[in-house]
Amino acid sequence: MMRIILLGAPGAGKGSQATKIAAKYGIAHISTGDALRANIKNGTELGKFAKSFIDKGQLVPDEVVVGIVADRIKEADCVNGFLLDGFPRTIPQAEALGKLTDIDYVINIDVDFDLIAARIGGRRMCSCGESYHISTYSSDVCAKCGAKLYQRADDKEETVKERLAVYEKQTAPLVDYYKASGKLVNVDGNKSIDEVFASIVKVLDGND
Ligand code: AP5
Repeated sequence: MMRIILLGAPGAGKGSQATKIAAKYGIAHISTGDALRANIKNGTELGKFAKSFIDKGQLVPDEVVVGIVADRIKEADCVNGFLLDGFPRTIPQAEALGKLTDIDYVINIDVDFDLIAARIGGRRMCSCGESYHISTYSSDVCAKCGAKLYQRADDKEETVKERLAVYEKQTAPLVDYYKASGKLVNVDGNKSIDEVFASIVKVLDGND
């Protein structure tokens, strides 16, 4: 059983690594950010409520995201484990998660803040879920499905500043919270996507 939490600041590379980890180990990739954006796209009540927080770079209230995760980890594709990307993000979320399930690994992707603006500023998304960076991908259509790429609404410079401030205040304390449980492993996220992935695989394969 592999139940993993992926911690890291906005733009640390959680989503990029989560996709690769989920594929390698055959576990479910659960991103609260993706779940909220899917609700916004589908025009649900939850989506309308969440949008008002996301657009300002603030966190959606704990009970909303805890509810999403509580339902999601009961689904059949979580039988071999799951990877939580972007959850928990506050101490109360971590406490609620602790009541729902045990966790095997907490991986913290550590990235210098001065790299983050360039990473997020250059990110381009596709509605199929693919993500690209303008430094390594020059087309404006998705290589997988051909749809036009776009920039995430909360990736504007001012909103990113707020997201980083929120991270420092509300999410960074989780590093110490999980250090105390002895399950936290720090991974250097300043390297290339493949190098970061290799470090994570070492941890998960027990060769760290
Ligand atoms: P969410 O979608 O979780 O966004 P985030 O945490 O801000 O993280 P990002 O998706 O911006 O970055 P990432 O770390 O996944 O990096 P990525 O791999 O894409 O949350 C969005 C909002 O939803 C929140 O602000 C909040 O409002 C709400 N929300 C979500 N969860 C919540 C919760 N639990 N509680 C309350 N509210 C919640 O990489 C970024 C870019 O860099 C890409 O272009 C990528 O190609 C590039 N890149 C990645 N790694 C590397 C590398 N190693 N080298 C070079 N480039 C790289």
